[in-house]
Amino acid sequence: MIFDQAEGLRRRILKANTEEKNQLSDKKTKIITVTSGKGGVGKSNFTLNFALALLGYQHRVAILDADIGLANIDVLMGVSPKLNLQDMMADKLSIWDILEKGPKGLEFIAGGSNLEFLLDPHKNDLSYLFYQFQLLNGYVDTILIDTGAGLSKESLKFILSSDEIFLVTTPEPTSITDAYAIIKSVSNKSKDVKISLIINRVTTQEEGVSTFHRIKAVTKKFLNINIQLFGFIYDDHHVTMSVKKQEPFYISYPNGRAAKSIDTLAEKYLKEREIEIVQPKKETLGIRSFIEKMTYWIKQ
Ligand SMILES: Nc1ncnc2c1ncn2[C@@H]1O[C@H](COP(=O)(O)OP(=O)(O)OP(=O)(O)O)[C@@H](O)[C@H]1O
Ligand SMILES: [Mg+2]
Repeated sequence: MIFDQAEGLRRRILKANTEEKNQLSDKKTKIITVTSGKGGVGKSNFTLNFALALLGYQHRVAILDADIGLANIDVLMGVSPKLNLQDMMADKLSIWDILEKGPKGLEFIAGGSNLEFLLDPHKNDLSYLFYQFQLLNGYVDTILIDTGAGLSKESLKFILSSDEIFLVTTPEPTSITDAYAIIKSVSNKSKDVKISLIINRVTTQEEGVSTFHRIKAVTKKFLNINIQLFGFIYDDHHVTMSVKKQEPFYISYPNGRAAKSIDTLAEKYLKEREIEIVQPKKETLGIRSFIEKMTYWIKQ
């Protein structure tokens, strides 16, 4: 009898532990790649300050800095990462070893100066990379991947594997045509990618709306795909001042127009995310789907 009771208790504990584990692994981490056609349109500033805004709302977020040219995010916050993704691969470190901390405890992973291991499925141990990456599932709610401008082969793989793309442009005609070129290249590979536009450096709301409509009209007409507007960020001299100080503008100038825009975007994101979690459109969201897609695109 006593044995039976003890056994029952043991089983109940085991079941509770397993349920807790499943709940954790079912928790979906959304992956968003931030990209642009033209360089210098504000991707890294957006990524960093948007992440800080989300953190302020208790949303757990991490940044992967996949800009292999010049690591931007760390410079913008005046932090130099000790280890990066390349080190993790070379020295078989764990993802926790390379997860660095920035202001307000913001967690980020530096890509390092070379992500070529993403291009050759045979040369490197990608399963090691993916195993480490999936440990983040449920640990954070959102991963933002900041990429360099234009479509490098590495960026394209991130773009095609993410749950959503934030495509940053400014109202300048050259930035608009370059954004269109990105949409065209991506849609040539896959029509499944959700592309959301961020119009940065607008001076009025109307300028933002008309920029969005111009891009939407041509993509609908020539590519037959629907893109959506994520939002605008106002042109604000505080951004440049913060870049010089190596301090995110969301922290230095929280009442500036750019920080206020970022706040609006963070609130919008969180509202949409709540709806997505209650009514998932696809079964494929999350790190597992990201890894599956990445495995596929690396082989192409
Ligand atoms: N909303 C804004 N208002 C005013 N200036 C801005 C704004 N956003 C960006 N800038 C200016 O643009 C510069 C480039 O921004 P950022 O480094 O974020 O661009 P990027 O797209 O990441 O560039 P790259 O393509 O080189 O990675 C900033 O240093 C700043 O001077
Ligand atoms: Mg950048």
